[in-house]
Amino acid sequence: MKRILLLVLLAAACSKETTTPSTQTAPPPVPAYVRDPHSYARPEEARVKHLVLDLTVDFAKKQLSGTATLSIEAQPNAKELVLDTSELTIRSVKLQPGGATAQFTLGNADPILGRKLEIPITADTKSVVIDYNTAPTAHALQWLEPAMTAGKKHPFLLSQSQAINARSWVPLQDTPQVRFTYDATVRVPKELMAVMSAENPTSRNEQGVYQFRMPQPVPSYLLAIGVGDLEFRPYDTRSGVYAEIPVIEAAAREFSDTPKMIHTAEEMYGPYRWSRYDLLVLPPSFPYGGMENPRLTFLTPTVIAGDKSLVSLIAHELAHSWSGNLVTNATWNDFWLNEGFTTYFEHRIVEKLYGREYSEMLWTLGVTDLKEELATLAPNKQGLYMDLSGENPDDGPGTVYEKGALFLRLLEETAGREKWDSFLRAYFDTFAFQSMTTTRFVEYLNTALPDVVKRVNVKEWIYGSGIPANAPQPKSEAFARVEAQAKAFAEGAPAESIDMSKWSSHERVHFIQSLPNLYPEHLEALDRHFHLSESGNSEVLSAWLEKSLDSGSKSVFPAVERFLTTQGRRKFVRPIFEKLMKTDPAFAKRLYEKARPGYHPVTQATLDEIVR
Ligand code: BES
Ligand code: ZN
Repeated sequence: MKRILLLVLLAAACSKETTTPSTQTAPPPVPAYVRDPHSYARPEEARVKHLVLDLTVDFAKKQLSGTATLSIEAQPNAKELVLDTSELTIRSVKLQPGGATAQFTLGNADPILGRKLEIPITADTKSVVIDYNTAPTAHALQWLEPAMTAGKKHPFLLSQSQAINARSWVPLQDTPQVRFTYDATVRVPKELMAVMSAENPTSRNEQGVYQFRMPQPVPSYLLAIGVGDLEFRPYDTRSGVYAEIPVIEAAAREFSDTPKMIHTAEEMYGPYRWSRYDLLVLPPSFPYGGMENPRLTFLTPTVIAGDKSLVSLIAHELAHSWSGNLVTNATWNDFWLNEGFTTYFEHRIVEKLYGREYSEMLWTLGVTDLKEELATLAPNKQGLYMDLSGENPDDGPGTVYEKGALFLRLLEETAGREKWDSFLRAYFDTFAFQSMTTTRFVEYLNTALPDVVKRVNVKEWIYGSGIPANAPQPKSEAFARVEAQAKAFAEGAPAESIDMSKWSSHERVHFIQSLPNLYPEHLEALDRHFHLSESGNSEVLSAWLEKSLDSGSKSVFPAVERFLTTQGRRKFVRPIFEKLMKTDPAFAKRLYEKARPGYHPVTQATLDEIVR
């Protein structure tokens, strides 16, 4: 009962700045903890509510060192607090109040889960103070040499906690079902600035000591830190961009639609509840396109194309402020609730801002990727719900993004947009700051939209393989024209006869992906004419390199080498290495040896399995 009250109070406190519509009045029941195969934690016994970090960032040692103080809420009979760790050195654990030293135990290291940390507690333990440091190989952290930054003068530190890497830099209950607020003190070299997924500084300070506060409760995978020679450029009073000086101008220009995007998202699904929304543009080794760290989305610089063509990625990360950060997948098996919803929401923001014709192009590109990936997966890996026990959730299939989005689009088309949008809005409001399982979502859907459920096969979508027959089919006239050109070229029309000059990057990508397998010489004619191997658009370039490698072409090897050694976005480097391993494993291995030191541990871990 106490817990229910606390949660209600907490939810009320969190929505203070905004108004919550009263579509659903009764507070939903607090769900029991569901077993999370990727965490040792037992929050049903003792649960972390607040974290205080005091860390020193040591670039020479590639180490974070200091204390994590975890305030807990425990059952009266709880005997221990169980945490997740990975490669952490624990110096001591003290119990508060009193400061007694705890005889903690660290379990055996599991290659995926790391080590369980068991801390004996007593009935009056309010918090534990853990004195620790990270390993230089910590999975979440990448320590960049100055040469790997834009400025080339200073080192850079960046984190990637999702899915289960937070435990490699903070000892905590690393399951998305445990939310906590946090404060942090971070000490960095004076020339550098620190930022986190929290209230952030906008300028450097003399001492190199930064204070952070995160008053909204977040799950551990949203803990984030970045340290570098950063500059801040505001857009308006609630959003702006952080980046290194050499990229700040280009970044600020590229992402200048951000304030409009926030506004558009709010119009659809309710108030933005995280106070500020800023962007942090990272060095090119950042392993993902973007990461929805609350208040501060982390971004790859490979989306700075110069023409805003890839900014749907901002719409995606922003959308996570509702789907994911507010209503959070309970376990990584329910990952589609984060990414499928977000991909749908992303497409809706894009449609509202840039028009239906444009968003249909992006939907179509998504479906192309989906089909391609489904073709490589066993049928039991193709559902939206995935059993990832025993696997690293970072390596789970990406099919849940577009398949999940298509499922929601089907629900929308079946219910009608207006009814569907009120459903989603109520869903976000009702379950704000809570976690969601697939089963619970289906129950809610059944209650709220019973007529819709009757007309779509929910089970098939969630547990079945492939793309169900009732899937919506995005249509783009522009793409139909591009497909005709691809067909003509494949059948012998010369490269000169194709006029790409007015094509968006999406049309270029679709053109490339629509080409059948051609002889290398045939493709090379396209390259001579359109210089695709030198494209400054990372999506066009990766599509082109992939297509060329599929054809067996080696003329793109220099471009491949450049691409793989100048950025480390996993989505781009993984498929290219996979293809190289098929066509020229010796070249792949040589290249990987050269590129690997520049990649983030997350990318390294994925590629170590592919290139060997
Ligand atoms: N949250 C994800 C990134 C992620 C997922 C990191 C799983 C670790 C484990 C992020 O929102 C995302 O989906 N990024 C995409 C971009 C998006 C537009 C498809 C990416 O990085 O490519
Ligand atoms: Zn996402």
